[in-house]
Amino acid sequence: MRKFRGRVLSHTSIQNAIVRVEEGRVKVEDLVKIRGDYYDFIGVIRKVFVGNPILNRYSPFLVTDPRAARGMEYTNAVVELLGILGGGKFEPFVPEPPTTSSEVVPLDRSDLDLIVSSENTIYLGYHKYSGWDIPLNPDFLYYHLWIGGITGCGKSHTVRILVDELARIGRRVLVFDHSGRDYVPYFEDKYLVISDTDIVLDPESVAQAIASRARFDKWLREYSDSATILYVLTGGETKMFERVLNSLSRENSSETPSVRNANLKSVVWSREKYLKILLKTAKRMGAKGATPLKLTFKILQNVPQDTFRRLNNRAYTYSDIIDLLLSRENCIIIDLSNEIMEIRRNIVAGILDELWRRIETKGEPVDTIVIIDEAQNYASEGCYPANYTIARTAREGRKWGLGLVLASQRWISDVSTDIRSNINSVMFSRLQVATDLQEIGNIVDVGGIELGILGAGDFFLAGLLSPFKRPVLLHTYKDPEERLKWRPTRN
Ligand SMILES: Nc1ncnc2c1ncn2[C@@H]1O[C@H](COP(=O)(O)OP(=O)(O)OP(=O)(O)O)[C@@H](O)[C@H]1O
Ligand SMILES: [Mg+2]
Repeated sequence: MRKFRGRVLSHTSIQNAIVRVEEGRVKVEDLVKIRGDYYDFIGVIRKVFVGNPILNRYSPFLVTDPRAARGMEYTNAVVELLGILGGGKFEPFVPEPPTTSSEVVPLDRSDLDLIVSSENTIYLGYHKYSGWDIPLNPDFLYYHLWIGGITGCGKSHTVRILVDELARIGRRVLVFDHSGRDYVPYFEDKYLVISDTDIVLDPESVAQAIASRARFDKWLREYSDSATILYVLTGGETKMFERVLNSLSRENSSETPSVRNANLKSVVWSREKYLKILLKTAKRMGAKGATPLKLTFKILQNVPQDTFRRLNNRAYTYSDIIDLLLSRENCIIIDLSNEIMEIRRNIVAGILDELWRRIETKGEPVDTIVIIDEAQNYASEGCYPANYTIARTAREGRKWGLGLVLASQRWISDVSTDIRSNINSVMFSRLQVATDLQEIGNIVDVGGIELGILGAGDFFLAGLLSPFKRPVLLHTYKDPEERLKWRPTRN
């Protein structure tokens, strides 16, 4: 850390202090300590100004000797006050302004240990100018985090470090890899990777898969939605059709067959059987005229046998995945890159719903962090049903140790309002849309930061996860080992 000294000038407040500093010694985002009588103030430099009374724009002097004029130059910096450090602990509020002429010095590395207790902390990067690793309290992830910024700024890279860090301290992590490229290649040797093609689909997803391949319009989808449920309940056997329909209409609900209780793994999907059930269903639903022919034609022409075959022999139900997560596998990566978008959303919703079912039946916390990169595909308005379950998790997850980490390029358009309003930490690099910063400011305190200083791999971390609860500038590690490699020489 560079050594520098400064003095507090007049006109301080509990938010900001103006300090006189040595020329060229301090940088924007340097962390500082202002010495007080009873406690020290912790702050961060948000702006640096150079002034000169002779070269002041209202000064009447004509400068004939520039070197002499430079002798009058001074440097002031604006320090945003983050809190106080007293009695061996940090409080993120400022009860009174620091007094003028107080001494300003760089923060000590050892002060950070007082600010975040070092038990079970995780590290995503170091403070850009001091080089200090910034300890983060992972419990704040249960209050949810959004990671954002323009393409290529390093969001997925940051998430990969986060996954390894959470695994290191033994936290449970469930990662949804939208493209199959951001996490699977990096983690397939380390953690359990489950492909979407290996997940037993719920009847709603199967219906969507078939209807979308068959290019059914919304009227024909009515038939395929019901037929798919009936296929599951009859096991695809037409001779069971009437019996299932009869029991469905019976009054006694305890005997009513339900897809929820069906053993989805044992259902064998076949195009011929499906078509038969579909036609029977359509007939019972009153389909007339050309409809049965249309259904037959579209299924036979547009949906290859293979689409049905691919639904068979899938190894994991949603419930199996959650069993594995809660019992043996601390970290599971779900590769979502193969199925169509609607099914990917159903899988995200299905797995999250299963976690909620466990919470409801057991009434115990699940202590899991759910990570969704490319969150615009799951968490924005219109991403039903994923956005509903994500919103519930954002709203109620904290009580049950269920935290969300969402990564996307844009804040407003990528994350729906009910999810955004429950996110308590934000980590952002350069933003594509200037107004996003103002909107982020409605959720967490973003103070007087300058986005212009951010390079690749630089992020401001703001909100609860930030040790200071205000924005702190982090440069993410090249890889998680970088923290350990650099530690002896950095301070
Ligand atoms: N701190 C870092 N050190 C070294 N390389 C980095 C760092 N941060 C990011 N990178 C590299 O920058 C490239 C882009 O990063 P990444 O894929 O994480 O971007 P992104 O923000 O997820 O972009 P997109 O929005 O397109 O998904 C990657 O090759 C990544 O490895
Ligand atoms: Mg990415």
